[in-house]
Amino acid sequence: MTVKLTYLGHSTFTVDADGVKLIIDPFLSPNNPLAPNAVTADSVKADFMVLTHGHGDHTADAVAVAKKTGCTVICNFEIGNWLMAKGVENVHQMNTGGGFDFSFGRLKWTVALHSSQLPDGSDGGNPGGVLIHFNDGTDVYFAGDTALTYDMRLIGESGGVDLAALPIGDNFTMGPEDAVLAAQFVKAKRVIPIHYNTFPPIKQDAHAFVQSLQDEADIEGIVLAPGETYEL
Ligand code: NI
Ligand code: MN
Repeated sequence: MTVKLTYLGHSTFTVDADGVKLIIDPFLSPNNPLAPNAVTADSVKADFMVLTHGHGDHTADAVAVAKKTGCTVICNFEIGNWLMAKGVENVHQMNTGGGFDFSFGRLKWTVALHSSQLPDGSDGGNPGGVLIHFNDGTDVYFAGDTALTYDMRLIGESGGVDLAALPIGDNFTMGPEDAVLAAQFVKAKRVIPIHYNTFPPIKQDAHAFVQSLQDEADIEGIVLAPGETYEL
């Protein structure tokens, strides 16, 4: 079995885990200026969706994709209520620290230090990240939007991860220097940088980040252009 991740720019991924399809933080074209035009809310396939928090750059296409695909949306309690009020039928509500066994593997809701208001001003609960133990044993950490936090060491202490998707944009989340520390805290074997270059305040040189990650932490970094796929 393999886990294939396709990066769609900003914090959006689609994941194919042995045929089970996930979408993380759907922010698609034309809402997301970096996303490939070919992938739209109408065309994307998903059995599950993960929403790390309420901000529009993570939820803009959530309702449309959920309604089109009928996927199960995994999110916090407050965002789940918001989605159900908008007519989304399949919602799996979780909260910080909780784990659940889904068909693709075990997903655990992790701490993120950020905020989470929904685009219409509704309460988006607390922000989070997700740690997924896929059925083939692959561990992937999608940090969501977060500051560097010492809690990340708990992930490292419980065995680390094969891959971490970490924000490097700075301004709204941790920047590249803190992301190098985060990669060490979670004991990541590889890191894909996310949440950069979408808007002027989060412009970053991802290749420079990957170089520091190698030099300072001896960890492999992978810069994915929007539309590119990485196979674990
Ligand atoms: Ni955010
Ligand atoms: Mn964001």
